[in-house]
Amino acid sequence: MKLHICDNKSSAEKACAEIFIKHLQSNPKANLGLATGGTPVIVYNFLVKAFHFSQISFRHIKTFNLDEYLGIHALHAQSYRSFMKKHLFDHVDILPLNCFFPCEEINYDEAIKLNGGIDIQLLGLGTNGHIAFNEPGSSFDSSTRKVKLSDQTLRDNKRFFQAGEFQPDTAISMGIKSIINAKEIIMLVTGEHKAKALQQLIEGNITEKFPASILQAHSNITIVADLNAASLL
Ligand code: GLP
Repeated sequence: MKLHICDNKSSAEKACAEIFIKHLQSNPKANLGLATGGTPVIVYNFLVKAFHFSQISFRHIKTFNLDEYLGIHALHAQSYRSFMKKHLFDHVDILPLNCFFPCEEINYDEAIKLNGGIDIQLLGLGTNGHIAFNEPGSSFDSSTRKVKLSDQTLRDNKRFFQAGEFQPDTAISMGIKSIINAKEIIMLVTGEHKAKALQQLIEGNITEKFPASILQAHSNITIVADLNAASLL
């Protein structure tokens, strides 16, 4: 496991984006695993800028998102498809057909495999140790499936919804096995509120009670963190 600690949030986001930009330059046909949430937004801004400066192209890129809510329409403002369109897809030359999201109608893991697997996976970290929507207690052997969101995750993500707006409590999430199959993983962790979780990820036991701990066993993972998130290490 490589740990890259940056002085602040902006430099961590930039460092993370640079890894992806280099990867896209050396492998213009890469399959990217993508994350949503607050953490990667600026990373996507950097990718859009790099596209506008002709440093990278998404023409031959395929993307596989980690998760998607159930119970809201794909076009709903809070769907993860809308998130990706808003922050990345609508601003680059990616083909809509090449943007994959987990859903109940397709065997997502098979689709990923048939496309050659994920070359580089961007990950965020839940405050309770979830990766994608694999909540504490998820099997390390899990495939993409329907999941129930924990109370902690519902609280953490409430900020994205308007007061009184319906907030889904189920989702389809890439499984832990599917995530671990990625050839390379880059995790971005920023903010003091993630410090405890990052400490447990790096220093704790590998246990299904804390799903992200399995990342200790991945042979090609880089964690990019800011000083706040790394404050307990
Ligand atoms: C969300 C997503 C995860 C994300 C994590 C952290 O609910 N399902 O993929 O990495 O929780 O989110 P944030 O970056 O907003 O802290």
